[in-house]
Amino acid sequence: MKTIGVITPGGDAPGMNAAIRAVARIAHSRNFKVLGFERGWYGLLTNSKKHLTPRAVGGIVQLGGTMLHTLRCPPFETKEGIEMAEKTLRINNVEALVVIGGDGSFRGANELSEKSGVTMIGIPATIDNDVFGTDETIGFDTALNTAIGAIDKIRDTAISHERIFIVEVMGRKRGFLALHVGIAIGAEVILIPEKGCDIKSCEIDKIVHILNTNSKKGKQTGIIVVAEGVGNTSDLAEDIAKHTGSEVRLSILGYAQRGGSPTGRSRLLASLFAEKAVNLIFKTKENQIVGLKNGEISSIPMNISIKTQKSIDLTLLELAEKLSI
Ligand code: F6P
Repeated sequence: MKTIGVITPGGDAPGMNAAIRAVARIAHSRNFKVLGFERGWYGLLTNSKKHLTPRAVGGIVQLGGTMLHTLRCPPFETKEGIEMAEKTLRINNVEALVVIGGDGSFRGANELSEKSGVTMIGIPATIDNDVFGTDETIGFDTALNTAIGAIDKIRDTAISHERIFIVEVMGRKRGFLALHVGIAIGAEVILIPEKGCDIKSCEIDKIVHILNTNSKKGKQTGIIVVAEGVGNTSDLAEDIAKHTGSEVRLSILGYAQRGGSPTGRSRLLASLFAEKAVNLIFKTKENQIVGLKNGEISSIPMNISIKTQKSIDLTLLELAEKLSI
């Protein structure tokens, strides 16, 4: 019986368990033995693994997080670490490793593949939705809806107190989550790293103009959605309060966006990506990442994905402005 491995080495995302479950069951149906390596790359450095039988992955499709756990693993970035990981793959006769994560996980997988010769198949799962090669990552829809639910509640108190709220969402480097959340909740302003705007230099005058204009039109509250990568949101809150005379409050949604039961969409993506990933193992030795492109499940070479930055549709910012008059 051939063996494949599964690992979730980076930041967790809702839907990862659905992907683990689907890989294990689809691979089992193709007569593979499936080993789940625990705590990210540490699991390969320490040969810590679980045999993922169809029963071992029962009752997890609805659970956020990753049953394999994850851990940031600096030793993996050393020559000795890669050699230890290669040895674990070899002694377990792993033919291919399914890596469920974001671009950082795929960069590590690509390096390990060069050392070990083991094929890596990436399943994009991150709430940031910033993986080149897929329109959507597992977990993005869940984080989007978690943030929407939280901000719809914030809007109630913003209206009651006629306050301006700055809501910081996740996205250390990219603004996909902030942009989609902002449109979905009707934000007056959306700030994302791609605008080349950090809090100090960001368009404070434009933001103040929008809020003051709205106030004159009788719109006394406003929601400003900011991706965490833009900068220090408490500075921004102070600046806006100073320039508008309004009461301004800051709400940082934080890690709640990383958890929760995955939405149906996240679970469906996880299952379809997993099926594609297992089928690719039979078809190619080249490292790939699976993805959703124009409604179709597809794949691209991993080394293209990790070298290419995914573009963001900045025209959505114009749409947000039109919608928030
Ligand atoms: O990459 C996903 C993500 O949630 C980012 O949005 C966030 O900035 C980062 O992970 C947080 O990383 P950590 O869990 O290591 O604090």
